[in-house]
Amino acid sequence: MGREMASAFGRWCAMAEMPVRPELVAVADLVEPVREWFAAIPSCTQRTADYRELLANPAVDVVYVAVPHHLHEELYCAVLDAGRDLLAEKPFGVDLASARRIAQRVQSSGRFVRCSSEFPFFPGAQRVLEVAQSGRIGRVLEARCGFHHSSDLDAGKAANWKRLSKFCGEIGVLGDLGMHACHLPLRLGWKPTRLFAQLQKGYPQRPDGKGGMTACDTWDNASLATWCEIDGAEVPLRLEMKRMAPGETNTWFFEVLGTEGGARYSTKEPKTLWLFEGGKEQFWKQTDLGFSTPFRTVTGGIFEVGFPDVIQQMWAAYLLEREGLLGSRMGCATVAEAVASQEIFAAALQSQAQGSVVTL
Ligand SMILES: NC(=O)c1ccc[n+]([C@@H]2O[C@H](COP(=O)([O-])OP(=O)(O)OC[C@H]3O[C@@H](n4cnc5c(N)ncnc54)[C@H](O)[C@@H]3O)[C@@H](O)[C@H]2O)c1
Repeated sequence: MGREMASAFGRWCAMAEMPVRPELVAVADLVEPVREWFAAIPSCTQRTADYRELLANPAVDVVYVAVPHHLHEELYCAVLDAGRDLLAEKPFGVDLASARRIAQRVQSSGRFVRCSSEFPFFPGAQRVLEVAQSGRIGRVLEARCGFHHSSDLDAGKAANWKRLSKFCGEIGVLGDLGMHACHLPLRLGWKPTRLFAQLQKGYPQRPDGKGGMTACDTWDNASLATWCEIDGAEVPLRLEMKRMAPGETNTWFFEVLGTEGGARYSTKEPKTLWLFEGGKEQFWKQTDLGFSTPFRTVTGGIFEVGFPDVIQQMWAAYLLEREGLLGSRMGCATVAEAVASQEIFAAALQSQAQGSVVTL
């Protein structure tokens, strides 16, 4: 993810009317070939294996941290203690207790901190959000948000830290993909009040990449049937995070259905927005959105938006909000939203263990 972010800065000239320009000055990673990749970026003059050296660099204002989940708390707190602002990766630690400790440290430090979640910056996602906020769809009947992968269907894929609870956390796929599913519902104020979780494991063993096999113990698929309060009514909200969803490659989706209208967007059809129109005859209308990103770019409106674009849009949101220049546009996921997502994951683990509905 560090390389992905570097590439977003590298083509910052694509941003139009943008008063803030990030410059990558330093990188810390334990692995030398990873560090050496950054040698191609002239402004990145510090490459170190020790993140403390990076934090001592006076040229560093903002730190983006993308490390295995068991290291989140240590590194995020070190960044704050060093007096730097932070764009932190999800899920803010391995569990709810860790997320709460990080949130406390954010508050006492007074630093500007947001959590990475880029999919809401797709124009289609923004439009579903707008429809949900507009009140035009009558009474909300139900909503669904999720993130599906299929790469773990390959039993021969080597295990990495994401398949081991001691690094990824007991929450497994919830921590890995859950913030993506929770971000927009939480932004709408749709925080589950009750939930029932169905969690599933994939292969108990995988190749270890060194000729042997290693045990994998994390949850790989999670389906959460939740209820949240919308305009005084209890409404079903379905949250889905899957590493084993046949046929899906990085499919993020959000759907909101109401008595008089609805909207649906999925990255499976990245430029397509579906709008529902109720009435005597009912219609699902489809439109191609083009390059209508929340933060304007030089790219013509007829073209398509992709993953690297929404990463760049997320950075624009982070940097503008940090400068107090965001205006009415949507900002990145907040610390409160990251903690709220961990509350949902903790309740999901409890529901799975008890086989019952859990009240949050
Ligand atoms: N927003 C997204 O779409 C997205 C996508 C993938 C991963 N992530 C998140 O990014 C984070 C990292 O995931 P990843 O897939 O990039 O993992 P990764 O394993 O590919 O990369 C992690 C990197 O951290 C380095 N590292 C480990 N310990 C370190 C230390 N003490 N100091 C410095 N570097 C250290 C490793 O050498 C490695 O290069 C996780 O929080 C994950 O959930 C977010």
